[in-house]
Formats: sequence, structure tokens, C-alpha cells
Amino acid sequence: MKKTVILTGAGISAESGIRTFRDKNGLWEGHRMEEVATPGAFANKPEVVHRFYNQRRAQLPEVEPNAAHRALAKLEQHLGDDFLLVTQNVDNLHERAGNTRVLHMHGELAKKRCTSCEYVSECTTDLAATNICERCKRPGGLRPDIVWFGEMPYHLDRIYRALEDADLFVAIGTSGVVYPAAQFVSHAKQHGAQTVEINLEAAANSADFDESILGPATENVPPFVERSINGSPSP
Ligand code: OAD
Repeated sequence: MKKTVILTGAGISAESGIRTFRDKNGLWEGHRMEEVATPGAFANKPEVVHRFYNQRRAQLPEVEPNAAHRALAKLEQHLGDDFLLVTQNVDNLHERAGNTRVLHMHGELAKKRCTSCEYVSECTTDLAATNICERCKRPGGLRPDIVWFGEMPYHLDRIYRALEDADLFVAIGTSGVVYPAAQFVSHAKQHGAQTVEINLEAAANSADFDESILGPATENVPPFVERSINGSPSP
């Protein structure tokens, strides 16, 4: 079976009702993403940053995985250990669709981290600058367990090893402008993988892919997965 690495971005959750970052209304209350998603923003205005992530966390129970998430769960069931899902998304829709081999390279909304003792724990309610860490008891240090601009994404060693080993790399719903995720395609290709983009519109790094399938993820991911499972070539 083909060793397969899938990279997902905000576009796969768009049809579940979660706003993407860079589409038309990608601004949040007049802020650019870079202005709320940085360590500097958290140091200067923690209440603004908490509010942004609290809103996004509160939305999670209101949204459901869509047909594209469910198709990837089916692909994992078929491929087992030959499957790895790397997501830039901080929502939990892949897990709720049934995927288990998931690496959240940009962290997770449903987790919090103490900036003093680094303890990571589940987070299902709002965070505030006054919260106290349940382990070290220090106040004020809890942050969403999200990777911000200027910070090192999680799991990179495992991701690069999987890309080097992959027969197939598929990027779904990502604009191809945020690094290092945007160069995973070239890395996988250099190591011999076939590379496919599935996106609403051509991504910034579209030329790096062997094949582009353009249109909504819910329309294109399920048939792509069926073709992968049945071994027939793409149209
Ligand atoms: P973006 O908002 O930059 O891009 C979303 C992509 O999804 C675009 O290329 C859209 O064309 C595509 N898209 C939109 N709707 C779609 C649909 N229904 N089906 C398929 N594709 C669709 O989101 P990301 O590329 O995920 O980082 O952004 C990368 C990172 O930038 C995020 O993880 C986040 C952000 O700043 C951090 O927070 C660290």
C-alpha cells in the first residue's frame, strides 16, 4: 500500500462553518492574523488574544466534521500505519471524524499550556489572563496550546521523516503561504513522492504539485479517497 501523508489547512473545515484565515473575510475584528497570533501580542494584550481563541474554542461544539474529514478517516482505516495526517488546523474535526494518526503542527484549541511549567492539559472552557495553572499554581501564565508566528511548529522531526518515506503527499485546503508547511510538497517530491493539491483555488505553491484538483473539499476529497483505495488513477 502507498505510504500516504496528508496535509490539511483551514479550507477542509470551511464547509463545516469554520472561517479560514486568508479568504475574503479572513480578518478578525479588524486584526490581521499576525496581530493576534504572536507571542508579542499575547505579552501586550493577553485579553485580546484569549478572546480570539475563546471564540474559536466555543465554536467547536457547534460544528461537525464534513464529508472531506470523514473520507480521510476512511483512508486511514484502509491504510493503517501507512497513513499520517498532518494538520495546520487547531480544531478537532479530524479526530471527531475518526482519524487517530493526526499530528497538530500548529497546536490545538482544546489544550492549554502553562508558560511557567510547560504543563499541557485539556481546555474546554474560556481562558483568561487571571487563570491559575493546576500544576504549578502560578497565576497568569496559561495560554492556548497554539503555535504562534515566530514559534517552532510541533512534531517537525516526525513530519519530515514521514515526508521522506512517503509515496503520496496530498495537501488539502491550505493556501501554501505559511512555512514550513508550504514547503512540505517540495520535500516530499525530492524524496520521490507523487504530490497532489486539493484546494478551492490554486494555492501559492500550486506549481510545486504534480496534480491540482480545484473545487470544494467536500466534493473532491471523497472521490479522491475512493480512487486511492480502489487503486484507479486520477481522471
Ligand atoms: P488559509 O486561510 O491561509 O487558506 C485556506 C485555503 O483553503 C485557501 O487556499 C482556500 O482557497 C482554501 N479553501 C477555502 N475553502 C475551501 C473549500 N471549501 N475546499 C477546499 N479548499 C478551500 O489557511 P491555512 O493555509 O490553513 O497558523 O493557513 C495556514 C496557517 O496560517 C494556519 O494554520 C494559521 C494561519 O495563520 C497559525 O495560527 C499559526
